[in-house]
Amino acid sequence: MSERKTERKLFHTHYGTNLMVKIAPSILSADFARLKEEIEVIEQGGADLLHIDVMDGHFVPNLTIGPPVAHAIRKYTELPLDVHLMVTNPDDFIQPFAECDTRYLTVHAEVCPHLHRTIQQIKQHGMKAGVSLNPATPLHTLDDILAELDMVLIMSVNPGFGGQTFIPFSLKKITRLRQQLQDQGLSQVEIEVDGGISVDNIREVAEAGVSIFVAGSAIFNAPDPREMIQRMKQACA
Ligand code: DX5
Ligand code: ZN
Repeated sequence: MSERKTERKLFHTHYGTNLMVKIAPSILSADFARLKEEIEVIEQGGADLLHIDVMDGHFVPNLTIGPPVAHAIRKYTELPLDVHLMVTNPDDFIQPFAECDTRYLTVHAEVCPHLHRTIQQIKQHGMKAGVSLNPATPLHTLDDILAELDMVLIMSVNPGFGGQTFIPFSLKKITRLRQQLQDQGLSQVEIEVDGGISVDNIREVAEAGVSIFVAGSAIFNAPDPREMIQRMKQACA
């Protein structure tokens, strides 16, 4: 059985979904001065998405990159862009990231007073809509809007920096969310996890119901990022 078929079976068996395991390396842990080469390496290694952390120094205590850099990256990779907006005014960035051919645009529920409208606008711009929850934000925040979403991003660290430790209670949150999605006939909704993912914990997190794994330091700090991506996939198989 091929590796991909094995992954598919994992999710069929446990959750009645046909979602594939996808690895989304976060360039936050890449060498920004060598971004093109760093992205080439993870693309060769079998990355499925490219996770771009956009931070504004207000919602989170760090500043990173914005649409101009995403535009530049777009020219050098075929990988779908998975943009994680950690900004207080995400609505202002829907159009700019649509223009970068972004596949998934994720906003934080904590800063969206009109979340339904924001989601509709993301979709109207031709992108898949994701909503992220900080560790302290309860799942029920999304109860009324789950059916509108393509993806829920569960933060398993407090956002702002790479290299933090996975917060253990995230696992129960993911399990409850996958069950809720299944109960509501929404098994096609992806669950993404972000923060502290490594080859040592990825299987347990996959079994809880995650299909998209963001990993920054585990991949870019590895001696061979290509091999690490493969090891992470195999760990879920
Ligand atoms: C944190 C970012 C993450 C970060 C993950 O706020 O959203 O995407 O890059 O880094 P690791 O995998 O090192 O925890
Ligand atoms: Zn992120």
